[in-house]
Amino acid sequence: MKTVRSLIRPLVHDLHAYVPGEQPKIKGLVKLNTNENPYPPSPRVLKAVKAAVDGRLRLYPNPTAQVLREKLAKLHACGPENIIIGNGSDEVLALAVRAFVEPAQRSEVRGQRSECKVQFFHPSYSLYPVLADIHGAAKNAVPLNANFTMPSVAELKRGKLWNFNAALTFITTPNAPSGCGYATADLEKLCRAMSGVVVLDEAYVDFARENAMKLALKYPHVLVARTFSKAYSLCFQRVGYFVGNPGLIAALDKIRDSYNVNGLGQVAAVATLEDLQYYRANFRKIVGTREELSCALTLLGFRVLPSQTNFILAKPPGNVLPASRRKKERRQDAGGTFGAKDWLEKLRDKKILVRWFHYPEVKDYLRITIGTPQEAQALVTAVKAILQ
Ligand SMILES: Cc1ncc(COP(=O)(O)O)c(C=O)c1O
Repeated sequence: MKTVRSLIRPLVHDLHAYVPGEQPKIKGLVKLNTNENPYPPSPRVLKAVKAAVDGRLRLYPNPTAQVLREKLAKLHACGPENIIIGNGSDEVLALAVRAFVEPAQRSEVRGQRSECKVQFFHPSYSLYPVLADIHGAAKNAVPLNANFTMPSVAELKRGKLWNFNAALTFITTPNAPSGCGYATADLEKLCRAMSGVVVLDEAYVDFARENAMKLALKYPHVLVARTFSKAYSLCFQRVGYFVGNPGLIAALDKIRDSYNVNGLGQVAAVATLEDLQYYRANFRKIVGTREELSCALTLLGFRVLPSQTNFILAKPPGNVLPASRRKKERRQDAGGTFGAKDWLEKLRDKKILVRWFHYPEVKDYLRITIGTPQEAQALVTAVKAILQ
């Protein structure tokens, strides 16, 4: 008999899977680690979902999410043929890799080696390299500027790392985990310089000053990704979408599962679009809390990067402990200071959960989701207690 190991494709066996943020069920936990919206869906959405839970659950949902696509088309001033819905925007991002990028070996056979790449800035959404690996596609991770701004086209040309012919380029805008917003004019310049497909992943754009939706409707190789997860309090239902050229959308449509968007998700997303005022009020509250929390943490010695999202990237102060206690503490960096990972653990002890990433560019920072004003206050109180 074959070993289980030998039944698995080497590519899958060796894959480093995407690691989602923790979803612990600890009572009283202030959960600021996965950029969920602290406010519930609108009462109209809850009512619509509850009303849909009946004998209809035995039926398949609409295979093309037709009503939702029509409503989104109105919102974005385009046609339903410009839109594909996914089981979260993660699904449409994965479809793009499968539809537009040849796996490495196939691309060599076709003599298209340099074009067939999944390209993205680093750091940005850590799912992109995993999607490339799953597909067996070559990756090109290009560093952002040291302050997390996006290099200009001229800088990218000078740097020689960026591939202007990459088959697929993902740009998280505003960026995660930095929270840094990019000007639409700069995104347009970059899109114009690219020959492959460009996905502008606008998962957090409702908390930003500008969005780049017009580029998806102007350029045939540009897709904009949006999600109902963050701004629209609907992570649980998994609904996201692309807007773009009907030719690209039709290609993606061919390879998706027939019933990729579950029925209750469609109902919830349609009802969401009928109560946008409720959500817009929440965006304003979250942006207000973001600015207040950024000020409060800055006053306590954090370096908080300006954010256009529903989270902040903040570098905590390093020298918290007196030298005598520093020695006893388990985790110390080479300088003997109290690092971001120590903060993560100390905050967790105080029932505040934030996110820490191990990559060198951000390992000195914490990513903190913006919660309610009460949750922000709880974080500030915990920080003060740790500093004392
Ligand atoms: C930049 C970015 N894009 C896409 C997603 C995926 O969102 P969804 O819940 O729609 O799959 C996330 C989720 O964390 C994200 O941070």
